[in-house]
Amino acid sequence: MKLALLLGITLCFLLVACGSKDAANNSQSSTKFTQYYIQGERLYLQHCSNCHQKNGKGLGLVYPPLDSSDYMDQNLPAVICLIKNGSQGEITVNGKIYNQKMPGVPNLTPLEIAEISTYIYNTWSHKAGLIDVKQTEQILVACTKEMKE
Ligand code: HEC
Repeated sequence: MKLALLLGITLCFLLVACGSKDAANNSQSSTKFTQYYIQGERLYLQHCSNCHQKNGKGLGLVYPPLDSSDYMDQNLPAVICLIKNGSQGEITVNGKIYNQKMPGVPNLTPLEIAEISTYIYNTWSHKAGLIDVKQTEQILVACTKEMKE
């Protein structure tokens, strides 16, 4: 009887301990998301909104939209690379062809690129969640390799 009680108490304790650890993890990751998002918005307004506009709708056939962009949905690595290195040549967004030069921002750090990506991938129509700096670093290494080849 005593043993059962003891087991019961231990089990309760473990459950509570595990439960609160989960909660801590969740709130840690949502704090990280919020930090990325806030920094990302600031950087977007500084480096991108001149062309793509604050509302992400772009400008006619000159600057493609980010809001509802199917290109973004299908090409996360290419988007991360073009933020750093720019883009040239034809690009099709929602069935429309754009062909203007986009200058990159080569002095952005991988963290800043992850923050901008988190912002543009979770604003307007997009809900992709956090785009982490580790993932961004891996993609950036691959795009510099491609450029050297
Ligand atoms: C000087 C204007 C200009 C600036 C500043 C600029 N872009 Fe672009 N962006 C363009 C143009 C033009 C294209 C199409 C490029 C092409 O034709 O190859 C483009 C393409 C894109 C695309 C892919 C197409 C789409 O609409 O989904 C994304 C994503 C994008 N830009 C994001 C950004 C982000 C993020 C920044 C800020 C770091 C930025 N751009 C800054 C002009 C700009």
